[in-house]
Amino acid sequence: MQPIDKRTEEIQAEFAKVFDGSPTHVAIAPGRVNLIGEHTDYNDGFVLPVALDRDVRVIFRPRNDRRVRLYALEFDTWADFDLDALAFDEEVFWANYTMGVAWALEEAGVKLRGLEGVVSGNIPRGSGLSSSAGLEISNALALLAAAGKSEALTGPQIAQAAQRAENHFVGVNCGIMDQFISTLGEEGYALLIDCRSLDYQRVPFPDGASLVIGNTKASRSLANSAYNERRAQCEEGVARLQSALPEITALRDVTSAQLEAHKGLLSPIVYRRCRHVVGENERVMGTVAALAAGDLEEVGRLMNASHESLRDDYEVSSEALDAMVAAMRSALGCLGARLTGAGFGGCAVALVRKGQERAVRDAIFENYSKSMNIWPEVYTPPASAGARLFSLE
Ligand code: GLA
Repeated sequence: MQPIDKRTEEIQAEFAKVFDGSPTHVAIAPGRVNLIGEHTDYNDGFVLPVALDRDVRVIFRPRNDRRVRLYALEFDTWADFDLDALAFDEEVFWANYTMGVAWALEEAGVKLRGLEGVVSGNIPRGSGLSSSAGLEISNALALLAAAGKSEALTGPQIAQAAQRAENHFVGVNCGIMDQFISTLGEEGYALLIDCRSLDYQRVPFPDGASLVIGNTKASRSLANSAYNERRAQCEEGVARLQSALPEITALRDVTSAQLEAHKGLLSPIVYRRCRHVVGENERVMGTVAALAAGDLEEVGRLMNASHESLRDDYEVSSEALDAMVAAMRSALGCLGARLTGAGFGGCAVALVRKGQERAVRDAIFENYSKSMNIWPEVYTPPASAGARLFSLE
């Protein structure tokens, strides 16, 4: 990407309308799509996401005081607060992400300064593509830069601060995946992230394949409470398994063989939740091995198995997601397809043989809209870069 492209210029023009003078920087942070490794991050497990070519960006300049004034273009609302008086905003919900990130950065020991700017994003919102992580990470980079502290934290530390903001300020109990890939994604690569150690490894996106994302456009009602319930069931599973396996601290430490040997300790429902997580970690490692071997059929098979497990054992799919996955798989050239993100609605992702993107796209519009009576959206994103900061001066 060119450092300063047309979209940045347009947002810059908005800045000039809202504030006097010129901005000094643009901070950009993308959304993500997860190839495989769903509901594993908060179990200390493995994930394999890709950063999208859609992002949230903040065009800003520092202030000499501790006031933050951000205007959100798409919402036409303001986050306007003092860094010394952070309080949950009931009215402007997105402002809590900005405040939360400021709070978490200062908790991490970084003394911030104020800034003023314009925020704008093109990640579909509420679709499971992590527009909130894009907002958090772009805001974090902007706040750090305005304070002259861009080097104060590492990428993983920035991601952790943003996750804390979401957990403790906004009140959403997410894992680390979305903030991590938004911060550290790289063009042409997926990242294999170890969500326990926060070590990560670049995995080249295969030459012979493309991603096709199908947005069900179906609402994600109850997603938050069901997500928290799944987390609690995983914790219950660990607590019960510990009586036989005292060395484990998370489902990440349990193998399929161990789970089978001790399934009598678990209620049927908790057993199935654990079986998803344990199997999904194994599938992530299998996917990485298959990509290294150039075996795209195997990658597709594992993605399909992931969807089946999320649907039957973890129970986070929905009629719309199943219809989307079926529509994707009906097309020649679809290697595998699964729901991506938390589930309950939002998007599915397909790995598609290069050159067959169109066929999959057509199959989605034809078959998904017929079965659900909803007009979907389709994206074919390349594996894109993570967050970045540019000077505008
Ligand atoms: C949401 C959360 C992530 C992760 C996924 C499920 O996207 O924000 O942390 O738990 O769901 O894999």
